[in-house]
Amino acid sequence: MKKLRGAVIGYGFISGKGHIPAYLQRKDVEIVAVADICDGRRTEAAKVLPGVRVYADFETLLAKEKGNLDFVDISTPPCDHARIAHAAFDAGLHVLCEKPLTTTLEEAASLLKHARDAKRVLFPCHNYKHAPVVKTIREIIASGKIGKVRSLNLSTYRNTHAKGVTEWKTHWRREKKYSGGGIAMDHGSHTFYLTFDWLAAYPTAVTAKMTNQSLNAPAGAMTPKYDTEDNFTCVLTFPTGIANANLTWTAGVRKVIYTVQGDRGAITVDDDDLQLATMEATGGPDVAQGAVKWNVEKRVIQSNWMDASHVSWFNSMFDQFMTAIETGDYVGKEAKEAYLCIQVITTAYRSAEEGCRELPLATEVNV
Ligand SMILES: NC(=O)c1ccc[n+]([C@@H]2O[C@H](COP(=O)([O-])OP(=O)(O)OC[C@H]3O[C@@H](n4cnc5c(N)ncnc54)[C@H](O)[C@@H]3O)[C@@H](O)[C@H]2O)c1
Repeated sequence: MKKLRGAVIGYGFISGKGHIPAYLQRKDVEIVAVADICDGRRTEAAKVLPGVRVYADFETLLAKEKGNLDFVDISTPPCDHARIAHAAFDAGLHVLCEKPLTTTLEEAASLLKHARDAKRVLFPCHNYKHAPVVKTIREIIASGKIGKVRSLNLSTYRNTHAKGVTEWKTHWRREKKYSGGGIAMDHGSHTFYLTFDWLAAYPTAVTAKMTNQSLNAPAGAMTPKYDTEDNFTCVLTFPTGIANANLTWTAGVRKVIYTVQGDRGAITVDDDDLQLATMEATGGPDVAQGAVKWNVEKRVIQSNWMDASHVSWFNSMFDQFMTAIETGDYVGKEAKEAYLCIQVITTAYRSAEEGCRELPLATEVNV
């Protein structure tokens, strides 16, 4: 079997802890080169991957590795995703890109268009779909056990912003020039592509509110005042129902709580704990409240939520990237949903700035 040859751009937390260890488990992929602008990270990469060719920037890597590569894995902060992906398409390479795909909708559109014209795969790391408990939610919905999904609540609690490696800029997520935004830009994609999947549709409108609690720190406090939001909440209207999303970096705990409400039952997930409640056939809509019989089933589905690298979810996602390459699915469902996630995030930012005004969303990706 011919191995797929890849280069990692940005050897930081996610590639060091999440991607490379997963690649090393595979026999069908070989990472031959790494680029990182930070000296200390290049030293680390050379230690972990003996024999790998290491470069100080992605332009040199792409020039020197001409003919040696099939794909690049973009694991830098979001501000550089589009620039690197365009250069990779120009070099004839497929692109696996960390979320958020880009920080603006214009950049996302131009990447999808470039992938289509270059006939190269653009694939976002939408890895939450590959968490075991999330796969179970999908199976339960598909089984019809809870009926038609009508509403969702997705809450992501974090006690701090996620941190980058200490050798570079640990707090880049709080600086808009690197991240493009706060927790919605950082984590929103995971929340939104799950809502698309569970409500089996794309949203038509959003209303959002956000705050930046770092600005409330008293003068002279050690906590810096950042220019990005640390709390975000929004409501999405779908043709099939409604979704509430809450994201916070100032919680007292790290966890996700998801609820999926169908017309015959519901799923509640608290990290690894899943509860499935289904209504027993009751004889029609007029049955009295107390007469409804509920069947409640509890399961524990180990999903390693506390491991922020999500290394155990990576290879299931990478298999899909490989299938997209094999089948020539250059701008597939995942790439289109990455674009729609950026649309939700950037429109939600506008909604919040305009006093939570409800704003429309396009459901088609016309690029
Ligand atoms: N899917 C997930 O679950 C998940 C989890 C964590 C991070 N991420 C994403 O991964 C990306 C990186 O996040 P991280 O936590 O690993 O950050 P990090 O700060 O730990 O790593 C970023 C690395 O990129 C390098 N870098 C910065 N600009 C570069 C450039 N132009 N060219 C080459 N190297 C450059 C830095 O030196 C650093 O080593 C972000 O897009 C983030 O959202 C995704």
